[in-house]
Amino acid sequence: MPLSQHSTADSSSDACPEAHSLETVDKSGARVQKMFAEIAPRYDLTNRVLSGGIDVWWRHVTVSRVPLPECGALLDVCTGTGDLAIAFAKNSTSNMQIVGADFCRPMLTEGIHKRMGVSGRVKFIEADAMQLPFSNESFDAVTVAFGLRNMVDTRRGVFEMARVCRMGGRVAVLEFSLPSNRFIRSLYLLYFRNLLPHCGAMLARNTSAAYAYLNRSVEEFPSGEKLASLFRSAGLEIESMRPLTFGIATLYVGIKRGATE
Ligand SMILES: C[S@@+](CC[C@H](N)C(=O)[O-])C[C@H]1O[C@@H](n2cnc3c(N)ncnc32)[C@H](O)[C@@H]1O
Repeated sequence: MPLSQHSTADSSSDACPEAHSLETVDKSGARVQKMFAEIAPRYDLTNRVLSGGIDVWWRHVTVSRVPLPECGALLDVCTGTGDLAIAFAKNSTSNMQIVGADFCRPMLTEGIHKRMGVSGRVKFIEADAMQLPFSNESFDAVTVAFGLRNMVDTRRGVFEMARVCRMGGRVAVLEFSLPSNRFIRSLYLLYFRNLLPHCGAMLARNTSAAYAYLNRSVEEFPSGEKLASLFRSAGLEIESMRPLTFGIATLYVGIKRGATE
């Protein structure tokens, strides 16, 4: 799939009745790379402030839900500044090799500065999640946090993760979602659409549309049952699908049981 294609994920006025005016988000690789390159130096700070630090807990939950063997290898795609990869290295009892992959070099550069203490176990590589440079079944677990939504082709992203995961290994996706409670969702959407893009732009010192893109990409992302069915067609049996913090994020964990459909 060429990087210049636009996302065709359905912009869900079905799944989200409030989302009438959504346009399809441009997720071409070049645009996404440029956007993250611009915000890379202040990405972590912006994340912590906008989430009130709760994103650290979400990654902690992810580490606890993906049990690892004593040795082997884990791949974290769209690793960005490496928070999830580093959380695995610091909090899991396993001695596995952890590989963080991302196609935006400035994000990885930030990660390299942060991996002190675990640099022997966490390796970063520049790679496109649409075409991972690994052979089939190379990893015991494959994870992604807040990255699948940014990929130009969600289905291909899930299939690539499943492809490089060994049989019986786990694929975990941590991603933003919308609260299912109507009242909470309405309040959240007010913040998400009106306040967050301005706060994000201010904190990241970024005048481009990076934080306006955030809410639009979340609203059109195929979450819940839609993502679960994508897991199944990639040969992943859903082990758990856990809404976090009123459902503003969801952790999906699948076990690779079979071939893709
Ligand atoms: C919102 S950040 C998430 C970073 C990190 N996982 C975290 O939890 O903070 C999304 C990352 O996905 C990366 N990304 C998006 N599409 C990608 C692709 N096709 N291949 C590799 N990286 C990609 C971006 O460069 C960016 O670093």
